[in-house]
Amino acid sequence: MPADLDPSDKAKAVAARRALDYVQDGMRIGLGTGSTANFMVRGLGEMIRRDGLRVTGVPTSDRTAKLAAECGIPLATLDELRWLDLTIDGADEFDGDLNLIKGGGGALLQEKIVATASDMMVVITDPAKKVEHLGAFPLPVEVIPFGWQTTKGLIEESLVGADVTGRTVTLRQGGDAPFRTDEGNLILDLHLRRIDNPNQLALALNQIPGVVENGLFLDICDVVVIGAADGAVELHDSLAGTVTQERVDLAREENIFRD
Ligand code: 5RP
Repeated sequence: MPADLDPSDKAKAVAARRALDYVQDGMRIGLGTGSTANFMVRGLGEMIRRDGLRVTGVPTSDRTAKLAAECGIPLATLDELRWLDLTIDGADEFDGDLNLIKGGGGALLQEKIVATASDMMVVITDPAKKVEHLGAFPLPVEVIPFGWQTTKGLIEESLVGADVTGRTVTLRQGGDAPFRTDEGNLILDLHLRRIDNPNQLALALNQIPGVVENGLFLDICDVVVIGAADGAVELHDSLAGTVTQERVDLAREENIFRD
């Protein structure tokens, strides 16, 4: 593990390291997007170079595709592979049922398609993202640019009857202009503070014309790996119904997460 990583990055690297234990030779792997997923992509590249691991990756964003190619990971599209063995991705929030909010990086659409098309989804995170109730992190909703202000109005109307605490909706900016997803769409961030019925909200949002997808990942994630800077790992496994404490040997990880 490089000594110059700050504690938050060390925690992400530790989670990524442990999640890579789920990878087996020959697997088709969904590659998540974001700063935590980047550690996993670099680690996977190192396993290919160092151990001769043979895997095929399906990236969930242009950013991840570029990094994965630089790391020497053989890539394919989801259309070529159709179904994947495993997806490893980050998250913005997760609750005790391993439901997630994702899309802080704006890649929620491809991330949700890829994770849903995988036998297993492993989320890598640091302890700060664990919540009692989803919603403190603004919920990203991807909308098409055509008529987006009308779509925003319909979302605001739907929130009036929803089981949420806040109801402010903002258009995400990327510098001086609205943020654009890889598909050229816009992101509306829903500042809900607390979501009491995520299933109902997800269904209601996706019925609104103009909404492409929302950032609630419900019943998709199987395992959450929570890393800490000192090498401690907490593993929440919904398949086994267990929470276990482990350690990653930081001394062994000198090269694997180097930038
Ligand atoms: C991108 C995502 C990311 O997984 C999420 O935003 C977490 O990112 P990071 O690991 O940088 O905190 O959903 O759309």
